[in-house]
Amino acid sequence: MNARTTRTLAAALSLTAALAISGCSSSTASSGSGSSSNASAGAQAGESAKPKMTVSGGYMPEPVNDKMAGAFMVIKNDSNTADKLVGVTSPLSDDLQVHETKDQKMQQVQSMDVPAAGELKLERGGNHIMFMGLKNKPNVGDKVTVELRFEKADPVKVELDVKERTYNAQNSTAH
Ligand code: CU
Repeated sequence: MNARTTRTLAAALSLTAALAISGCSSSTASSGSGSSSNASAGAQAGESAKPKMTVSGGYMPEPVNDKMAGAFMVIKNDSNTADKLVGVTSPLSDDLQVHETKDQKMQQVQSMDVPAAGELKLERGGNHIMFMGLKNKPNVGDKVTVELRFEKADPVKVELDVKERTYNAQNSTAH
């Protein structure tokens, strides 16, 4: 009796785990150009609460060459309206992408959620912004400007500090 209960519980747990893993499949749906967000059934009326974004801790580890670079920051949504990061531009590159990291591999996504009264963390080993092809290679101490575009909120300009290659906001005390 006892053993059976345990077995059943174990089976239930592994099922839950399987569901959790498969549950993150993305619905990278539709319209690339971000101009018209169709299909949003709940978008009627209430245009009042336009989300407002605050960005902190933006940095770029000094890139190895002019091929690519990553950018990290925390985007905070101070409103009660959920929003999405839908694009990034910068004078430093004509091709900026939003990447997520899954199973240690990164892949491009069309948008990334910024939850209502929550935040989107772009950090090493996780979600990040990626510059594909740089017009010049920045060095430690330089500033790089990016502009974040959102589905609803106004665009936000952010100055990224170019940091040492190994810099990580989490352990910024280490030297
Ligand atoms: Cu990437």
